[in-house]
Amino acid sequence: MKPSIILYKALPDDLLHRLESHFTVHRLPDLRPETVAQHAQIFASAVGLLGSGDAVDQALLEKMPRLRAASTISVGYDNVDVDALNARGVLLMHTPTVLTETVADTVIALMLSAARRVVEVAERVRAGEWTTSIGPDWFGCDVHHKTLGIVGMGRIGLAVAQRAHFGFNMPILYNARSRHPEAESRFNARYCELDALLQEADFVCLILPLTKETHRMFGTAQFATMKKSAIFVNAGRGPVVDEAALIAALQRGEIQAAGLDVFDQEPLPVDSPLLSLPNVVAVPHIGSATHETRYNMAACAVDNLIDALRGKPEKNCVNPQAAK
Ligand code: GLV
Ligand code: GLV
Repeated sequence: MKPSIILYKALPDDLLHRLESHFTVHRLPDLRPETVAQHAQIFASAVGLLGSGDAVDQALLEKMPRLRAASTISVGYDNVDVDALNARGVLLMHTPTVLTETVADTVIALMLSAARRVVEVAERVRAGEWTTSIGPDWFGCDVHHKTLGIVGMGRIGLAVAQRAHFGFNMPILYNARSRHPEAESRFNARYCELDALLQEADFVCLILPLTKETHRMFGTAQFATMKKSAIFVNAGRGPVVDEAALIAALQRGEIQAAGLDVFDQEPLPVDSPLLSLPNVVAVPHIGSATHETRYNMAACAVDNLIDALRGKPEKNCVNPQAAK
């Protein structure tokens, strides 16, 4: 009999077939306690999990005594209690690398949109306001040759640095837990303490995972340290930022504009003050959301689960030590 796994995200047909050639696949809508209660037998017998977004926590693991591997269709795994997985010897697989270039494109799109007010002026054109040649109230600010500060120099940060250095001639500052020799040698990136970066950068791009250390790392003090002309971009995780402090900084003009892909609460509530600020470009967590990359992420997650359950989690495993 094939091992039984739970799939809680839709997959393209070919990937579903690949999965079904290895496993008995139980397709469920999500991992909420109601769903678990309704399908207790399936959860009790499954050795694998494949999906994204839903919480994988202690309470769920207690209902899944046979679970050996969880494969998330994402690079981030802040929704997963890794300690609880480790304690039970469950492997966690994720999808770094395949989405790097696409998320870097998203970061550049947010920088350009916020600086050149692309969304705001396009809405004015649609509203019939473009009736004479445009004046300064339609102008934005330059991106090329401005100083970019990258907070979080992982794979995505590096791909943003590459675009900014070669495409836009931007001097690059970065802050990260450790020095990144490749970023320094290839893109002339200069390591800075966070405060120094915030003081100097014209664009501040946050590309950090959400952890205990990064939670609310950006608040009133950090926005106050930035230039009044600074443009802030967050493409990591919403809770890395104190959203109320960001809103206040934008309302008081302490920073110029923001391009945001991630939020405290997703979907972003339609009554969020962020949506009444003309200097905010808010997009719905589209970082990796292209047809090509979402397919590649799903394929990577399928292969990751097959590898992990065959005892070969060499690639893309967050906690290889859990198998020992
Ligand atoms: C998206 O945010 C991801 O973690 O892949
Ligand atoms: C994601 O792949 C990162 O390491 O930034």
